[in-house]
Amino acid sequence: MAAKNKKLIVGNWKMNLNVHEASLYVHTLSKLVKTHRTVEVVLAPTMLALQSLSLQVNYRQFKLAAQNIYWRDHGAFTGEISAQQLSGVVQYAIIGHSERRHIFHESDKDTRNKVQAAIRNGISPILCVGETAAERALNETNDVLHDQLVGGLANVTSEELAQITIAYEPVWAIGTGNNATPHDVRQAEKAIRSQISHLYGKTAAEAVNVLYGGSVNKDSATDYLMIPGVDGLLIGGASLDAEAFSDIIEKAHNAASVVVKQ
Ligand code: PGA
Repeated sequence: MAAKNKKLIVGNWKMNLNVHEASLYVHTLSKLVKTHRTVEVVLAPTMLALQSLSLQVNYRQFKLAAQNIYWRDHGAFTGEISAQQLSGVVQYAIIGHSERRHIFHESDKDTRNKVQAAIRNGISPILCVGETAAERALNETNDVLHDQLVGGLANVTSEELAQITIAYEPVWAIGTGNNATPHDVRQAEKAIRSQISHLYGKTAAEAVNVLYGGSVNKDSATDYLMIPGVDGLLIGGASLDAEAFSDIIEKAHNAASVVVKQ
């Protein structure tokens, strides 16, 4: 398929940086990064920092994402934060990250409810899918992707699909330094689009944004960004270093420009 000429670069800070550090980081990053029409940069800080960063960032330069949301809009759900409460503060929400699935035992039903809640509240979901090392060893990657996509996207209409980004994040590659090869990523990206095509048709499958995430750093970023069906990256560890992250953003701009020239 033809690559799109815009890349999405998402920095998932996980449970790192307090409010003060987050603000300093954004200040530093905003000086390092040029605003390119070819790249959308999304920052996913701690929930605590979202409100203050929403006032600090220039939205033409950075968008914000929640690392998680709760799927009910309000009620007796101690400790949770709803998509409704986050609406107007974030533009994106990461849903079904492997740490949510494996540490906090989130199911496909949870991801489905969260995808719905995000869309209902005007937030674009970034739905994470990916197999564990054991599943990969058993050759079950495509089955896992199938189940997580069908599970997470049930009830999503074709119109709503346009707001969704799928992030392929093999669990064995996250935070391990053991990143997937571009060939692995290409295969998974094809499997994801084929599943979306099955559910929503070929046009929707070509249009949906597919990201790769898992131990991406400034040295490996371009290899993934040049894969025709990869529309961007979801970056954990390397996004905590403003210089490395800005380098990756510049590489995304270069990759998108190469694609435009083709
Ligand atoms: P990593 O994390 O880049 O540190 O592997 C990626 C992610 O969890 O989204």
